[in-house]
Amino acid sequence: MDQLLVALDVETGARALQLADLLRDLAGGFKVGSRLFTLEGPDLVRRLVDRGARVFLDLKFHDIPNTVAQAVEAAVQTGAWMVDVHASGGVPMMQAAARAGQEAAARVGRPAPLVVGITVLTSMDEAVLRETGVARPLVDQVVSLARMAHAAGLQGVVASPHETAAIRQACGSGFTIVTPGIRGAAAGGDRHDQTRTMGPAEAVRAGANFIVVGRPILAAPDPRAAAHAIADALAQAAGGPHE
Ligand code: C5P
Repeated sequence: MDQLLVALDVETGARALQLADLLRDLAGGFKVGSRLFTLEGPDLVRRLVDRGARVFLDLKFHDIPNTVAQAVEAAVQTGAWMVDVHASGGVPMMQAAARAGQEAAARVGRPAPLVVGITVLTSMDEAVLRETGVARPLVDQVVSLARMAHAAGLQGVVASPHETAAIRQACGSGFTIVTPGIRGAAAGGDRHDQTRTMGPAEAVRAGANFIVVGRPILAAPDPRAAAHAIADALAQAAGGPHE
């Protein structure tokens, strides 16, 4: 299922490659996050890309524009298909990231990566957000960051499925929305540390282009069966069975 991105939040590159092989026909891509990248480095991303996988390099860059631009350029060199930066880093930082993605891809003759902005982490609720000094309602903060990302030339954002409809309305149909925090029914009941959650089919119906699923697949007794159930739920939401 094109829309399902599996978060390879595992301890070793060997396990990540094993999972990628196991889930290849069920997933539209694989997400490499900070733990795996810190342990295994860009070589793992290249190995996944060499296997034909789309890789979302989820390192959530948040730094001064020049440093973020250089980091996005480095991500392009690994062959990453999608990368993310914190939208709260501001418009000039996101503009630099978008430009760096396009320029670096043109230099190596690859399609430009999707550069998406992190809005408010799906583990945060309104109380936690308020502690960071943001007094307005969470959905307003998410939509405001999404508008900034859109204006800065990013291709999309990462946000909880609860804010998808509001983002779609604010940023239009061409804007990519990636939603983690997928739980319930087909994706398992344990919410772990996620607070703003939704089921896979509901998330796509709400307007998500991609859903990111980690623990409901990785911690399942049979990860392939868990991924299959999610792919089926997505296919049903799209109006047909998987395969
Ligand atoms: O295990 P789970 O399904 O909660 O995994 C979600 C993945 O998405 C994790 O790798 C997490 O780091 C990532 N993520 C997130 N919220 C964001 C951005 C990324 O949960 N806003």
